[in-house]
Amino acid sequence: MKKIAVLTSGGDSPGMNAAIRAVVRAGIHNGLEVFGVSEGYKGLLENEITPMNYRSVSEMMNRGGTILKTARCKEFMHDEYILKGIENLKALGIEGLAVIGGDGSFRGAKDLSRLGMPTVGIPATIDNDIACTDYTIGFDTALNTACECIDKLKDTGASHNRCNVIEVMGRHAGHIALEVGIANGAEVIIVPETPFDLKTDIVERINQAAKKGKKHFVVIVAEGIEGVDKLAIQIETLTEISTRATILGHMQRGGTPTVKDRVMASRMGVYAVELLMEDKGNRVVAWKNGRIVDYDINEALEMKKTIDADLYNVYKTVTE
Ligand code: F6P
Repeated sequence: MKKIAVLTSGGDSPGMNAAIRAVVRAGIHNGLEVFGVSEGYKGLLENEITPMNYRSVSEMMNRGGTILKTARCKEFMHDEYILKGIENLKALGIEGLAVIGGDGSFRGAKDLSRLGMPTVGIPATIDNDIACTDYTIGFDTALNTACECIDKLKDTGASHNRCNVIEVMGRHAGHIALEVGIANGAEVIIVPETPFDLKTDIVERINQAAKKGKKHFVVIVAEGIEGVDKLAIQIETLTEISTRATILGHMQRGGTPTVKDRVMASRMGVYAVELLMEDKGNRVVAWKNGRIVDYDINEALEMKKTIDADLYNVYKTVTE
């Protein structure tokens, strides 16, 4: 293999730049030519593929977002468009591709491999919802960003003796909610993986905390639950505690990546290039039990991830 390309796809996540840098620098270190594709699969279709050099990835590891830009590309679900993308890569002599993104992006990577372009996936999403890996690039930064915002909401909640109902991102998963909920001492954490009852799992928990002397409350809700405004009204009605709803939203995706995200992205990027150099496509890089490993993409996409039961138990133990 002499030439490879790298792209970022799906929702951006802090640390993607460190992953791009690692792929480019590891490629150059191993004597490869490395190309960058702008705006994910969209750029692949539109032939937005340009050579990158050592300096293309300088002084950007501290920046959130992705210097290559990203997009969600519906066309890429159809073989005719994927073949067009492969044609564009092959016209430049590119023989392997690293895709930095979430599981939606890995479906594209799987199809690219199936149709003749060896592709390796690098897991990057703030949601940490990719089953084959214990960690996805961006999760730690998003947790810290959310944690800082919730600290601020607690200042005003404490001043007014209020209940803050706060929605955090995570798509269909509750990993962000569970970890920031614990980190912020939330009275209630609601995640899509665990069914809840408004009265017993929310109202009674708030009332119990109030009986123990607590005057302000935090309810963390994963976005997969939906309806945070309605929930805040219900809580206020049933507890008679002044309640406000806040959706943290896309700010959780931005910001300076933490050391953990930069280092994990660097490890994963280098490993992805090693796989491509061994002519291994159709693989996903993963962090499992404290080590970098790789899985077949099809196998990886079939795995299921649940909420960390031990951690959920920690939440219950410290709040009951
Ligand atoms: O996957 C990352 C994520 O931020 C999810 O937490 C959220 O559900 C989704 O992306 C939002 O997507 P978009 O940026 O397209 O609105």
